[in-house]
Amino acid sequence: MDLRSARAALQIARRVAVLTGAGVSAASGIPTFRDAQSGHWARFRPEDLASPEAYAADPELVWAWYAGRYRDVLAAQPNPAHHLLVRLEQQKGAGFFLATQNVDGLHARAGSGTRGGRLAELHGNLALARDEVTGEVFPLPDPAQLSLPPLSPAGHRMRPNVVWFGEYLPEEALRAAQQAFAQADIALIIGTSAVVYPAAGLARDTLLGGGKVIEINPEPTDLTRLASFSLRETAERGLDLLLTEHLNEH
Ligand code: APR
Repeated sequence: MDLRSARAALQIARRVAVLTGAGVSAASGIPTFRDAQSGHWARFRPEDLASPEAYAADPELVWAWYAGRYRDVLAAQPNPAHHLLVRLEQQKGAGFFLATQNVDGLHARAGSGTRGGRLAELHGNLALARDEVTGEVFPLPDPAQLSLPPLSPAGHRMRPNVVWFGEYLPEEALRAAQQAFAQADIALIIGTSAVVYPAAGLARDTLLGGGKVIEINPEPTDLTRLASFSLRETAERGLDLLLTEHLNEH
């Protein structure tokens, strides 16, 4: 497949399933997961902060890290890649499914999931916290009002509502994503190293279902050899190349 045929395939596809990773938020100034370890946090590995064991050992430390990331994410804005995916959803309607591994909430803030398609935040959302006793989920207050660790209205300690290393993905969201990728004419895999399972298996679900895989990533990944077409571009430029002209035609 070349760029021209990839564009044509996307244009005629009735069902499009998209998987995004940290690369989609790079242009919003959100560091990728591993690059986030700078300054004071440079001496920690992400695995030593984003795990149930780390939280059990030192909840204040883990919350301080998440509170900093939450502040950074609120200060950031969705970029053209997020907005182009909203326009693609507008075009495909119920045939559109977006699964993201990002916890920054930028797809939702751009409007994904509100134009007839669906958004699944497979790894949770930094702006939400979960009552450790009841499992109920609540939005975090504004960073200025946030005292750590946050308590639920029932007075229980809350934990970040994100999926940590060694934890299961939200079952319903994962099942919906697997179904959407298995039925997709095109899977669009953007800005993810695609090493983390089961998210990385979604592209394979599309191939097994007879669909095609298009990747956008400045670097080759483990998925590149499975992709019908790999666009070596940033998320925003790659989406622009794939979508803009035909979106303007409507
Ligand atoms: N546009 C598109 N892709 C980019 C850009 C960009 N501007 N900049 C970097 N990338 C690509 C990199 O080449 C890399 O393949 O984004 C990918 C980022 O990879 P990771 O940092 O591994 O992020 P991600 O794939 O989202 O990680 C998945 O792993 O550690 C866990 O839970 C964490 O959600 C995270 C998951």
